[in-house]
Parts: sequence; structure tokens; C-alpha cells
Amino acid sequence: MSPKTILVIGSSNTDMTAKTAELPRPGETVLGGVFTMGAGGKGANQAVAAQRLGGKVKFICKVGKDMFGDNSIAQYEKEGLDTSGILRSNLPSGVALIYVDSHAENCIVVASGANGDLTEDDIEKSRKDLESCDILLLQLESPIPSVLKAAKIAHQAGKTVVLNPAPACPLPEELFRNIDLFIPNETELSTFSGMPVTSEKEAEAAAKAMQAKGVGKLIVTMGSKGALICEGGPSVFVPAHKVKAVDTTAAGDTFCGALCVAISEGKSLKEAAEFACAASALTVQKMGAQNSIPYRKDLKF
Ligand code: RIB
Repeated sequence: MSPKTILVIGSSNTDMTAKTAELPRPGETVLGGVFTMGAGGKGANQAVAAQRLGGKVKFICKVGKDMFGDNSIAQYEKEGLDTSGILRSNLPSGVALIYVDSHAENCIVVASGANGDLTEDDIEKSRKDLESCDILLLQLESPIPSVLKAAKIAHQAGKTVVLNPAPACPLPEELFRNIDLFIPNETELSTFSGMPVTSEKEAEAAAKAMQAKGVGKLIVTMGSKGALICEGGPSVFVPAHKVKAVDTTAAGDTFCGALCVAISEGKSLKEAAEFACAASALTVQKMGAQNSIPYRKDLKF
């Protein structure tokens, strides 16, 4: 049997990261440490994670006709991703400005550029990919009409549609009805459900509220605590690995990519979340986004 295919549609950025003891407050200048530049973007990070962890992955994004776009495509080809659906825009390629403090916390500004130019028309042209993939993985660094269009085509074709709703922004209710697996963190779940999410119990109640809006199943990522699986019956908690984090950038992306790989291999959601927790525990121990995403051989699965 040929392996199941994972289609990732999302953003591609070049990450420019500075390490600093404390994050600056508004109006404040702080001195930072070493500057690094590397491949990033939630879509690209999730595609690279899925590929490195053993998935068969096609990545669709839009980059500019510039050096950053050229470098990103070359990098994705080196990773072994199917890049045949990558599009070019007249806008500059996406760039993310990232600060990481001594507690491994980050703050990020994304200059979307070409990512913001992914149109419904572009998605229509990818219809064949959407209808032939097994799993579609989406995030929210792309224009919402394109996210909705992709989710609807894949859902109507009976594919598993996975949405990592990051960064949180207002969403049409129709989108929720086209999502089979929703992977928010606690803050995102609180935003979309309109309910507080500060504990497992609250996360379970908010997940039920999302299911009432039409979302299928949920996995709520709870940072260093772990992940809560809500399939409809009693929720199941998968604890995170206890590790010393240096940079949490792309930890959530690694989780989502890893999860899709495990699902594509026929694992249960609990087994998939265990695999994803193990992968993201490795990511947080290294600086950078794609730089820190592990390979299958790094995991004992
Ligand atoms: O999730 C991490 C990513 O968010 C970074 O790579 C950055 O590009 C932003 O998109």
C-alpha cells in the first residue's frame, strides 16, 4: 500500500532571530545577543516537520520573486518536499522578526508579504491535490478565504482536514464545520470558544463548545504541561516530556507535523499525541525554527 499523503498549505517565512535576556517593553531598547537567520513560517515548519518525521508531504505556499523566495524553495527541495505547487507573487517573501528571551519565551512579528497573496483562485488551481491527498494541514498565516476554500474542497472530498488555528484571528463559523481535527493552544481555544482555558477541565468544556460549532475532534496543546485529546467521550491527557527549553519557536509546528505523520501511519490520536509530544520536546531544546525540528531517527518511535 502506498503511504498516505499529507498536503500542507500555509506560510513560508525567513526568520530573523535575536536572543535577549528579557523581551523589550513598548518604547524600550534592549541589547541582544547573536543574530541568526533561518527558514521558518508556520506552514513551512509543519511541512518540514512532517517530512523529516517520515511523512510523504507536498507543500503549497506563495513566496516572492526574490532571494528569500529562491532560498526557501531550494531549502524545501533539499528536505525532499514536493514543491511543485509553490507559487510566486510580486510581493516580497514573508519575513518574521523574532525575539527569544532567557526563559525560552518568544515574541514574533510576521511581515506576511507574498503569504498574504495566496488567493482562492490559487486554491482552486490546487483542487486536484486537495482531492487526492489523505490529510490536509492548514494554519492561519494565510488569507482566511484561501484557508476556507481549501478546507471546504478537501472536506467535501472526504479528506481529513486538520487546522492549527495560529495565529488566532476572527474566523467564519463555516470553517469550523469543515475541520476534522482542530489543534489550538490554550489561548487560541479560549479566543475561539469565548471561554476561559486555564485548566484541563476548562479546556475540556471549551473543546465541547467548539464541537458544538461543528469541529470534529480537538487536541489542545498546553505547552510544557502536555496535550489534551477531546474526541467526544472523556478527554485523555498526554503529558509533555520534562526538558530544559531554550527556544519554543516551532514547537507547536513540530507537534502538528508529527501528529499528521502518526495519523497517516494509522496510529490512534493518543499514540499520535505521544509521538508529537516527543518530537516537540526535541524542538524546544534547540534555537531556531526549522533548524530545531528533529528527524525520525532522533525519536524512539
Ligand atoms: O510558529 C513559528 C513560526 O511563526 C516562525 O517560524 C515564524 O516564521 C512565524 O511564522
